[in-house]
Amino acid sequence: MSNETARYSTDSSWAARADAEDPLRDFRSRFHLPPGRDGAAAVYFCGNSLGLQPKTTARFIAEELEDWARLGVEGHFHARHPWMPYHEFLAENTAAIVGAAAEEVVVMNTLTVNLHLMMVSFYRPTSARHKIIIEARAFPSDQYAVASQLRFHGYDPADAMVEIPIGEDGRFRTDTVLETIDRHRDTAALLLLGGVNYYNGQLFDIGTITAHARKAGVTVGIDCAHAAGNVPLQLHDWDVDFAAWCSYKYLNAGPGSTAGCFVHARHADDSTLPRFAGWWGHDRDSRFAMPPDFVPMRGAEGWQLSNQSILPLAALRASTDMFAEAGMDALRAKSLRLTGYLEFLLHAQSRDAWHVITPSDPAQRGCQLSLRIDRDGRALFDHLAANDVICDWREPDVIRVAPVPLYNSFADVARFAALFHAYFNDR
Ligand SMILES: Cc1ncc(COP(=O)(O)O)c(C=O)c1O
Repeated sequence: MSNETARYSTDSSWAARADAEDPLRDFRSRFHLPPGRDGAAAVYFCGNSLGLQPKTTARFIAEELEDWARLGVEGHFHARHPWMPYHEFLAENTAAIVGAAAEEVVVMNTLTVNLHLMMVSFYRPTSARHKIIIEARAFPSDQYAVASQLRFHGYDPADAMVEIPIGEDGRFRTDTVLETIDRHRDTAALLLLGGVNYYNGQLFDIGTITAHARKAGVTVGIDCAHAAGNVPLQLHDWDVDFAAWCSYKYLNAGPGSTAGCFVHARHADDSTLPRFAGWWGHDRDSRFAMPPDFVPMRGAEGWQLSNQSILPLAALRASTDMFAEAGMDALRAKSLRLTGYLEFLLHAQSRDAWHVITPSDPAQRGCQLSLRIDRDGRALFDHLAANDVICDWREPDVIRVAPVPLYNSFADVARFAALFHAYFNDR
């Protein structure tokens, strides 16, 4: 029995005690929790898909609406948070979430758009190196983006898109990732990896993989959609070339809200990098002189295209302020405990009919557990939904469950596990 396991108990009072001792417990009441059928909060384990709404979000957005009503165009300079530099107000908190310096991050656009913009700059095929390595079962949008970039440069994805194979246990092995890089070390230009795989919830060893790839001359980009706000990241120290993520999952900024982007400091002043340019990436001091030639701002800001959408950024401010208050270290500590408790309770009863495909090593996962159900998984999922559990179903046989430390409780986990086991026990 591991030390962590020894700390949990199937005793029904354990969850209440853990919640009472949880230093982050007050954050839960600062979110709108969707109600279940009886009006009490549902068990919301879907923050890996859409994070919940902080209660401060409406006020943050209302402030911008009021300033627009009050000031019109003058709001660009005189709003309480002036719109001209608005994205700058997000830089510090965003950088802390992904382990970067403020100048290495920018919030802009949406995730797939940012992946394309990053690949314009960092996927630079030559006659010798043109392949892109990506993990098998990467999120479809990433696969489409990679395949379309390859085609755009005249390559056939059937040959030039290399997949890192997944094991029969549904997990990736770091050795396999490194071997795949080695096998294509003379022909690969880019590795694009989901930091946390959306399907099995596996957190890759990004530092080791990046070091290996870069030594082989392969540029590294990380899709942090399922990692940002979920696991501690050190994008700068790991020497990742670029990264991109959305803000509507663990970052709780609302459906389709503004995404984020990381460009390593060593590229901050590289004027040889090709990029798709727009006026918001142009040098701030001369932007309104409207000069004909584009001069990029230093760092990630230089990849902006358009003036920013202020309302989603207001929602993002509400949420990243909360991350700054809670701190990624404390969030991770609670997350390990919450997901560890979930795993413990699930494994406390028979696992004949299902198994967890997420790695059992907590260092190799975030908050999500992916449960592969042997038969009729959809019926189990419907049973959970009918009992006010909001989680998600992934074809053909996986239920993804994500207890989020900002707003989920140990009692949520106990309620979920009881319903899960009741389904099998009552059959
Ligand atoms: C890993 C991953 N990549 C890309 C996307 C696509 O994001 P968007 O629609 O914001 O471009 C998602 C969306 O869930 C995702 O999970």
